[in-house]
Amino acid sequence: MTTAPASLMQAYERIQPDLKQVSAILDAELQSDQPELTELLEHLSRFRGKMLRPAILLLTARATGQVHTTHLGLAAVVEMFHLATLVHDDILDEARMRRGAQTINQGWGNEAAIMLGDWLISHAYHLCSRYGSQWASLEISSVAHRVCQGELMQLTRRGELAIGPDDYFEIITAKTAALIGLAARLGAHFNEACAEMEQACWDYGIDMGIAFQIADDVLDLVGDEQEAGKTLRSDLAEGKATLPLIHYLRSADPAHAERIRTLLDGHPLTDRGGRQVRLPQPIAPDRLTEARRLLLDSGCIESARAAARTYVESAKARLACLPETEAKADLRALADYVLVRDR
Ligand code: FPP
Ligand code: MG
Repeated sequence: MTTAPASLMQAYERIQPDLKQVSAILDAELQSDQPELTELLEHLSRFRGKMLRPAILLLTARATGQVHTTHLGLAAVVEMFHLATLVHDDILDEARMRRGAQTINQGWGNEAAIMLGDWLISHAYHLCSRYGSQWASLEISSVAHRVCQGELMQLTRRGELAIGPDDYFEIITAKTAALIGLAARLGAHFNEACAEMEQACWDYGIDMGIAFQIADDVLDLVGDEQEAGKTLRSDLAEGKATLPLIHYLRSADPAHAERIRTLLDGHPLTDRGGRQVRLPQPIAPDRLTEARRLLLDSGCIESARAAARTYVESAKARLACLPETEAKADLRALADYVLVRDR
């Protein structure tokens, strides 16, 4: 398992007291007197990992001024929102494991997982409105739309191997980067930072989020499930064209490109009206193994990693207009971490 670099540990140490307060808000809010829900919420507390989004929000707050009570509350809102998306994502991906524990859908079934995700998202809106900022409520709901649109686009384009980099970047910007961008922006906004700094924080979050999702998609192909603590190898099986495959299809010789297309042809189904519903039929395990081997033996994992590196460098450069503070250095350390994480 990769050890976190010292600069990242220091960044987390500096915001530890604030992160503890955010955790306390989450502990207090993720409670219910309904036993069925209590059991689910207790299990969900295991899904709280590095709290990357709250950490980014707290650091952009520090980098543009100080951390206020509203920042702490909104950091909890952002994490709750994120937890809701994970619970629903695991249903869609039929994932069995998340953060080393069983997923809600695996342990309690899809219906319970749908309702828990709904409970979390509605509670996140409720908590947000308690902080009295109509602006924050509007921004959070607009990001929620974007996340859902990204997921819908990914879903409807399953099995479509012709998807190009533009579509891929549109999907991951919406499903992953928008929430990270918002977290970064909230830190600056509630310090009344100038428009340029608020924009810089948003851009930092977007670039970092894109790098994060590329790294996550590489991890799906190369990672170890036990170390990652989550179900891997699902993207090819689900017909999701991620950056390594997109690079492969553009750089491989015609014979290899044709071979991987044949291996991954999930024969999109058609509905009664003859329209493609693009739900791929399951691809046999031996075909998935061969397709994965073709990707690993090519340079496309490295070229996807290089793309992630470019976004990390861009994220760091976006912070140029912020004053040189410890918090700004910590934001850079967080961005670098995206490239070395193995879970
Ligand atoms: C992770 O993708 C998934 C997301 C970043 C977003 C998921 C969002 C939804 C399912 C929409 C739900 C929306 C609301 C508002 C509740 P991944 O499968 O690539 O990552 P993973 O490897 O961590 O599973
Ligand atoms: Mg998933």
